[in-house]
Amino acid sequence: MIAAYQASSQARVNAALETLFVAPSPELNRLYDAMRYSVMNGGKRVRPLLAYAACEALGAVAEQANGAACAVELIHAYSLVHDDLPAMDDDDLRRGQPTTHKAFDEACAILAGDGLQSLAFSALLDPQLSGASAETRLRMVTALAYAAGPAGMVGGQAIDLGSVGLKLDQTALEYMHRHKTGALIEAAVQLGALASGRADATQLAALQTYAQAIGLAFQVQDDILDVESDTATLGKRQGADIARDKPTYPALLGLEAAKAYALELRDQALHALRPFDAAAEPLRDLARYIVERRH
Ligand code: IPE
Ligand code: IPE
Ligand code: MG
Ligand code: MG
Ligand code: MG
Repeated sequence: MIAAYQASSQARVNAALETLFVAPSPELNRLYDAMRYSVMNGGKRVRPLLAYAACEALGAVAEQANGAACAVELIHAYSLVHDDLPAMDDDDLRRGQPTTHKAFDEACAILAGDGLQSLAFSALLDPQLSGASAETRLRMVTALAYAAGPAGMVGGQAIDLGSVGLKLDQTALEYMHRHKTGALIEAAVQLGALASGRADATQLAALQTYAQAIGLAFQVQDDILDVESDTATLGKRQGADIARDKPTYPALLGLEAAKAYALELRDQALHALRPFDAAAEPLRDLARYIVERRH
């Protein structure tokens, strides 16, 4: 079920994303190539899937969330390009291929990331990708800017880099994870729900509770996979956190307790979806997938 949903949603978002990398002049071919390379390289597209599934949970067709799906994936791809830079995690492998600064160069990777961030907001406002009302678009832009910015993902990344070699307690670790990864996952669900044009305040609140739980679970599982998966499966270097003495859930709690915590968060997420009918099944499947995934 999730595999089929994943495949059709990936095809939908990939087709929409593909339209965004057309250089307006030949001088910009390299920059556009670097942006395209950073996005069209086989990511799992979990954030777009969440946007589509949230939109469908409210009874709208998935296509209505195309702008939201592209926007969250573009922010995510930009965050990965910068996350891999030598000044940050200094990684050379991403999605099974050389990281953007390895395939191109560092300056090009920095600019590609910057460009992807702007493209995300353009995608959200693109009438080809979304027919949402002006008011809905404003709410989506506000939510995405907050989640991507210094009070969200960028803030979490700052804490991550400031915490290398330190022993964070569970409260501090959770704060970091909720920002660096959770914020954008929450935005994916929120934007998808808004794109449906049918979300009421109670539904948005329930979906936020769901998203907060899976957002944290996603990074807990990412930390677990860094310990127990392998480089070929992950498409990124296994053991990178350990090598860099990063604060992670397995490092703090131990592997087994980290796994139990991920399952507990999944159950919290499923609990939050109780008021929803069968249309929320893809969201339920995604909650299970996030803690069972092997890459
Ligand atoms: C990896 O994200 C980085 C984190 C925020 C934990 P994903 O696991 O979603 O990476 P891709 O997009 O599938 O490559
Ligand atoms: C990434 O966290 C979070 C963001 C990119 C915002 P990680 O540094 O753990 O991600 P990976 O493991 O390199 O994909
Ligand atoms: Mg990092
Ligand atoms: Mg990293
Ligand atoms: Mg990681």
